[in-house]
Amino acid sequence: MKALVRPIPGRASPSLALALLILAAPVQASSDAKNAPKGDAAFGEYLSGTCVTCHQVSGKATGGIPPIVAWPEDQFIAVMNAYRSKDRENQVMRTIAAALNDEEIAALAAYFGGLILQPDTKK
Ligand code: HEC
Repeated sequence: MKALVRPIPGRASPSLALALLILAAPVQASSDAKNAPKGDAAFGEYLSGTCVTCHQVSGKATGGIPPIVAWPEDQFIAVMNAYRSKDRENQVMRTIAAALNDEEIAALAAYFGGLILQPDTKK
């Protein structure tokens, strides 16, 4: 009698674990999507080389180039998306944004968003 009972929990737990894994995967993915964007700031720093030929890391505005540091990430992403979708004017930024994917824009947002605007250079 016991021999019939014992294999049931033994068999049930691996399949339960598997079921939990299968269930957990989509839940994880959807919570990631909801909490997006969370860019990789280190990747953003690497990508920022192109940007800082014009935009100052200090946050100083120079010759018509606006500061882009210390922005909230979602705002930064929204502006970059507006250039990419051509909703926002500026040929230079449209071209630059068009070459970036979502992950790269999120990374740049994380990097520039984490920089501190230097008070003495603020205009
Ligand atoms: C060739 C010079 C140049 C380069 C390189 C450049 N930008 Fe720009 N960027 C500009 C100019 C000029 C503007 C102002 C455009 C406008 O008036 O809308 C601007 C505007 C912006 C804005 C909006 C600023 C605001 O106050 O509205 C963001 C964000 C931005 N750039 C991000 C970037 C990022 C990120 C990169 C690198 C991937 C980059 N830019 C590279 C020249 C440049």
